[in-house]
Amino acid sequence: MNDCRLTLDEIEYWLRQEDPSRLDLLWMRADQTRRQNVGDAVHLRGLIEISNYCSRRCRYCGLNIENRHLQRYRMTADEIFTCVEKAVEFGYGTVVLQAGEDYGIKTEWLADIVRRIKKQTSLALTLSLGERPIEDLIAWRKAGADRYLLRFETSDKALYERIHPSVANRPGRFELLTVLAQLGFEVGSGVMVGIPGQSFRSLAEDTALFGRLDLDMIGIGPFISNPLTPLGSGELIPSIDSAEQVPNTDLMTCKAVALARLVCPQANIPSTTALATINPDSGRELGLTRGANVVMPNLTPLCYRTLYEIYPGKACLNETADGYNGCLQARIESIGRTIGFGSGGRIRKSDE
Ligand code: 5AD
Repeated sequence: MNDCRLTLDEIEYWLRQEDPSRLDLLWMRADQTRRQNVGDAVHLRGLIEISNYCSRRCRYCGLNIENRHLQRYRMTADEIFTCVEKAVEFGYGTVVLQAGEDYGIKTEWLADIVRRIKKQTSLALTLSLGERPIEDLIAWRKAGADRYLLRFETSDKALYERIHPSVANRPGRFELLTVLAQLGFEVGSGVMVGIPGQSFRSLAEDTALFGRLDLDMIGIGPFISNPLTPLGSGELIPSIDSAEQVPNTDLMTCKAVALARLVCPQANIPSTTALATINPDSGRELGLTRGANVVMPNLTPLCYRTLYEIYPGKACLNETADGYNGCLQARIESIGRTIGFGSGGRIRKSDE
């Protein structure tokens, strides 16, 4: 189990901290904890966005079903395989198949793809397909999927309900995270930083919860306003005292990443595309030097990548995967790190 050495008050103190010389201490502790627990290797996960259909109505996300301005696509099995071959060719250890919560992705169809990938490659396989029924998760685990990503977005119940119109008779995200772990998946979750209505205290609670859930993977990115959604168009304005509102900045995202590293020393933590989007010059590097140890290069064919518009201005839209590889390697080496080989799974060191 994790030994979370930070109290809720300490986490909130760091989230509110603005003095650069004090923050240097946080960055140093996070970077040291990262090095001691997961080393200097940066693991690359090839991201394949297999469908932008979604049956949900999340108020912040451009893929939500109510967004009529988005042209929808679902990749074919052959198209997915072409991307998987790229991942192998580039030497990645993992691919992540991600989509909206798309019930056009049939359980057996995906199970077949999972089986083929596991049979033909030595890649670890991660799924990120939303809150699917437990039977689907069981089928995909049986087919060989290794990991599942499902962000809980915020642990503040009232805020969660405001931005996620409910679906009747469904288990909640926390219940699903427990089920996923019981099924033997490595489990990833995470939050957005600076959701309108998110307070410092609630982000501190989210962070403490990462430790209690003993997550294997933690994805943290800034909220990016999407004008084609209710939260981004000003249609839905949660009321909150402005002194309590968490800003959706790169600095605040880095604080959350650093604190996640401290509460979950062994977790795999990506420096996210959303962070690179709000700080194109150095967002990736900032994440990697402040606690993160993973990058998820986008392998989705360009014609689909532009349609996977969760938020506008997504970083990496104009890079070809081939070019990206070299540029990414240079960026990683420029901060004294190396590219990781192998599947880069959760390493469990026994507690001291
Ligand atoms: N800004 C930033 N991140 C977003 N996501 C969805 N919409 C947005 C947005 N507007 C994130 C969610 C989701 C992940 C796939 O993308 O956290 O879990």
